[in-house]
Amino acid sequence: MSTPNHIQELRRKYLSPSLSLSYDEPIHIVRGEGQYLYDKEGNRYLDAVNNIQHVGHCHPKVVNAAEKQNALLNTNTRYLDETIVRYAKLLTNKLPNGLDVCFFTNSGSESNDLALRIARCITGSKETIVLDGAYHGHLSSLIEISPYKYNAAGGSGPPDFVHSIPLPDSFRGMHRGKNCTKDYINELKNVISKINDSGKRLSTYIVEALMGCGGQIVLPDGFLEKSFKLVRKSGGLCISDEVQIGFGRMGTDFWGFETCNVIPDIVTLGKSIGNGHPLSAVVTSKEIADKFNNGMEYFNSYGGNPVSCAIGEAVLQVIEDEGLQENAEKVGNYLIEELIKLQTKYKFIGQVRGQGLFVGIELIHDDDVLEPNNTLAKKVVNEMKDAGILLSLDGPDHNVLKIKPPMVFNIENANELVINLKTIFDRNYDS
Ligand SMILES: Cc1ncc(COP(=O)(O)O)c(C=O)c1O
Repeated sequence: MSTPNHIQELRRKYLSPSLSLSYDEPIHIVRGEGQYLYDKEGNRYLDAVNNIQHVGHCHPKVVNAAEKQNALLNTNTRYLDETIVRYAKLLTNKLPNGLDVCFFTNSGSESNDLALRIARCITGSKETIVLDGAYHGHLSSLIEISPYKYNAAGGSGPPDFVHSIPLPDSFRGMHRGKNCTKDYINELKNVISKINDSGKRLSTYIVEALMGCGGQIVLPDGFLEKSFKLVRKSGGLCISDEVQIGFGRMGTDFWGFETCNVIPDIVTLGKSIGNGHPLSAVVTSKEIADKFNNGMEYFNSYGGNPVSCAIGEAVLQVIEDEGLQENAEKVGNYLIEELIKLQTKYKFIGQVRGQGLFVGIELIHDDDVLEPNNTLAKKVVNEMKDAGILLSLDGPDHNVLKIKPPMVFNIENANELVINLKTIFDRNYDS
């Protein structure tokens, strides 16, 4: 009944113009299965970008868990219910000791907002340190701490309690090369001194261990470890935003922060936790949760409802049953190796980086200047879509091809992606 044009017309009429669509010619997807999406004509697309559908689109075990619980009971958390405690136990079992208390929410943004509230309540301060290029969510409180938004179109800069340090990008950042960790740590030291000198106290430092919107940035060696030490010395709490990178995506580890040898005070989870269902969580220590319990109830109409928890449980089960963390390591390593081979052939590939199934290809104009090539990046994403492979762009300059597929992505899929990238590069551009 509805043609793509008609749907677009209805979107223009009934939806906010602030919502965007992917690709110059948007696609009308009607079905998903595993790592594949299908349009109305039955054309198959390989989904190489949807990290929310973590265990695969419409995974039958997740769908069944949702249907079964939906038909039985869905309420808020004010009754005794086994689902929520069973899930909280399973989830915290996946985290290091000391991160044992859960708050359930409905989006990554809600989790980060709550994490900020907890940190502010405990430290009595709002002074927050963030990394340039970071995005932590769409709520007002998070636009305030997201340089990716407040420094871009429509943004109006940070409030005075938010302090950023330069994007710790060893390839194209303010400080470059193998030994840049100390320079970024000095930037952090300067910011902390500035806060202390003004008679204020640091509240929190929020980071992703591998940055998503920042452009799939792998933090310089030892940076997170050293920065957590500095922040804690100043009385601040460390928040690890695992919304994009958690649940085995890193391959070697279940959580992003584990790849950097740190244990945060508060962890925020979202996206993949519910395979597309609006489930998310904040996990912290008993001590912090007790201090936050200052008399004000934490009530959330939907957070932690039995249907969400049944879904969360099914997702954890599937990750384990299907060995998806191990798959992320195997396929991710293979994919990165193949992409690095491409890099030797094409000058405009500035850097291939990432870990597990979280990979970025940074496109530039020239090796010496490292000027971002966002025009080329946009063209490649559109042409890959025409070839049946879905990718998108990241980074403050929108010049990083991002690859973060459902975790069922296999070697054959990796080959399909690389072969198509190569064809598009060969057909269109000087190498
Ligand atoms: C790192 C990070 N944190 C938080 C969020 C916000 O999550 P949500 O869109 O579920 O509110 C996002 C969303 O893209 C994100 O990438």
